[in-house]
Amino acid sequence: MFDKITVNLQEKSYEIIVGNNALEHLNLFLEERKYNKIIAISDENVVKFHGEKLKKIVKNLDFVVVESGESAKSFTIFAKTCEEILQKNIDRKTLLIAFGGGVVGDLTGFCASVLLRGIDFIQIPTTLLAMVDSSVGGKTAINSQAGKNLIGSFYQPKLVLCDIDFLETLPLREFRSGYAEIVKYGFIYDYNFFEFLDKNIAEIFAKNLQTLQKIITHSCKIKAQIVGRDERENGERALLNFGHTFGHIFETETNYSNEILHGEAVAIGMLMASKMSIDFEFINDDEYQKIFNHLQKSGFELNLKNIRKNWHQENLIKHLFKDKKIENNQLTFILLNKIGEAKIYKKVSLENFIKVLKNFLD
Ligand SMILES: NC(=O)c1ccc[n+]([C@@H]2O[C@H](COP(=O)([O-])OP(=O)(O)OC[C@H]3O[C@@H](n4cnc5c(N)ncnc54)[C@H](O)[C@@H]3O)[C@@H](O)[C@H]2O)c1
Repeated sequence: MFDKITVNLQEKSYEIIVGNNALEHLNLFLEERKYNKIIAISDENVVKFHGEKLKKIVKNLDFVVVESGESAKSFTIFAKTCEEILQKNIDRKTLLIAFGGGVVGDLTGFCASVLLRGIDFIQIPTTLLAMVDSSVGGKTAINSQAGKNLIGSFYQPKLVLCDIDFLETLPLREFRSGYAEIVKYGFIYDYNFFEFLDKNIAEIFAKNLQTLQKIITHSCKIKAQIVGRDERENGERALLNFGHTFGHIFETETNYSNEILHGEAVAIGMLMASKMSIDFEFINDDEYQKIFNHLQKSGFELNLKNIRKNWHQENLIKHLFKDKKIENNQLTFILLNKIGEAKIYKKVSLENFIKVLKNFLD
């Protein structure tokens, strides 16, 4: 059984298919479109675990394989990937398949958006994070020395296929990291979804297929609705950055290494943003405790000192300014009105920020 969600963006609309064995849907899509050439961009791990499965479904499939990890979103690898694709004599009827996690998705989408001034691409995400977040919405990017995701484009895929079977081989730590983005939808948008997640946490981490299908589909639905209303992040889409400003400072300080994964940083970041929401009296202590308990039950390390003994506070503040403009001593943060509803709040002072930071570092 597949679930089907449409991302409504007029002539750029596309479908997200979620299910176990969703990969089978690829045949239908390819029969309709009749591409001259199909090239999958993937990373070493994904090819090792799942390359054969894709090869069986797509006849004459070409592969371009990049190294695993964030380092593949570099200018060098981007250039190398484009050259390798061009050497395969592509034309405007070539399809690129992003076959991997968010790194491969962001890189492939960016290549597709610039090669021959734009060719089609589809997303076949293989991490939980990519299924519920990065594959949907059309943000593509590589990293610059000046910062992460600074070179990119808005470029929508033609299809997203979330095949839950791929998650079987995903390490628990990566799985949990992706889960942070799922519970984020509960925190910012849907209290009932948060309650469902809270009740079903054991099934989720046991990778129960039905439960996973339900929560991936629901997450994609929420993201599709938000992106459908605000593709280019002029307003509401910014709510999806809940926890990310705080999270980014720790990711930057640890150089986007394995010391803290994106979702792990976001989990702590969401807790910090919730603490800030208490400081402004938007939520109460009980709501904060519910958020804390859930993240703890999910297995996130919430004590920053257990990740690194000594964080350099000055550095962390410096990273904040890389991310944020400060105007009249005012910063913008995504805060909670209550569990299930977030808002863009533009009246955060540097002192407000430092108070929360100290609270978590001491
Ligand atoms: N475009 C967006 O809207 C958006 C949103 C959120 C995050 N991102 C980007 O996504 C990236 C992070 O994505 P990610 O967390 O998926 O990381 P990732 O792509 O690096 O994948 C994590 C690791 O899991 C491995 N892997 C992937 N699928 C596997 C599988 N099925 N079995 C075993 N191993 C597997 C990969 O090789 C890699 O080592 C970041 O670069 C971030 O900036 C983009």
